[in-house]
Amino acid sequence: HAPLRVALVGLGTVGGGVIRLLQTNADLIARRAGCPIQIVAISARDRNKDRGVDLSPYEWVDDMTTLATRDDIDVVVELIGGADGPALTLARQCLSAGKPFVTANKAMLAHHGLGLAALAEKAGVALKYEAAVAGGIPVIKGMREGAAANEISRVYGILNGTCNYILTTMEKEGRGFDEVLKEAQELGYAEADPSFDIDGVDAAHKLTILASLAFGTELDFDAVATTGIRHVIAADIAEAAALGYRIRLVGMAENGPDGLFQRVHPMLVPLDHPLAHVDGSLNAVVAEGNFVGRLFFQGRGAGDGPTASAVVADLIDVARDEYGDALAMPVAALAQQKPADAGKR
Ligand code: HSE
Repeated sequence: HAPLRVALVGLGTVGGGVIRLLQTNADLIARRAGCPIQIVAISARDRNKDRGVDLSPYEWVDDMTTLATRDDIDVVVELIGGADGPALTLARQCLSAGKPFVTANKAMLAHHGLGLAALAEKAGVALKYEAAVAGGIPVIKGMREGAAANEISRVYGILNGTCNYILTTMEKEGRGFDEVLKEAQELGYAEADPSFDIDGVDAAHKLTILASLAFGTELDFDAVATTGIRHVIAADIAEAAALGYRIRLVGMAENGPDGLFQRVHPMLVPLDHPLAHVDGSLNAVVAEGNFVGRLFFQGRGAGDGPTASAVVADLIDVARDEYGDALAMPVAALAQQKPADAGKR
């Protein structure tokens, strides 16, 4: 079969990972996808930065807005990040023009996912975002496909690798917050603006997406009550340990009689709960379904390899022509949920 021709926009940690993965596993990817997956064009803010990968085989595109309508590009992968700005412009252009779109951009989806899903639906093209939630864990596919037949009562988990790395390293090694944050940045886990990680905003973006998939509701980022880990100190961790708990930044969404309740904050997790044993940059997601029971997904939630793995899985779906509604049902079928009043709970 003819290759799937990819334009890759954004060449940070994850972009480099996608290039390396497509090179390293080219043969098996081609067998599974039914055709080779080839990057043909690349674009990023800074052309001259050394990224440690050979970019010479690819066409450099200065004006990414041209990608949406190019006939020699089958799919655009967006790894720029940011809720608005160039990523959103590109997404809207591509989907409006009927160009399949793969993204890792949880901020953009949390804020504009509904509109983007509607554009994809109208054009009948793929909008895929496995990498946007929990890095390499196939949690979008798990919720959208595996758990699709279930009524989900709760979905929750550890959704930010940077925070989990900070909390668990402080806990195990007794080191200070700032020092460990710096290390998480060096390891490529943190967002460009790490306050998104430590203030819980990144986890809230991901929870917004998961809640929509779990409950068939419209994405509602503003309804997430969010507190980060900025004020967690070593003494809190020690105190929790003395009581038989560990502190984790948990995002949780529940659909109850009062509406949809979504929050992200540091929680005390008892040692006999699996989330207490999710360490380092790992993420984990728990979903409770009425027929499947408790699902527990765990894996690496940040970093180039795991996130690239999710991006390329989406590309394989596009190559196979395997996709449906971005939010697991037509946008018109999503319920408009009345957010529960967080103050009452
Ligand atoms: N900054 C994010 C994290 C990257 O630490 O989890 C993955 O979305």
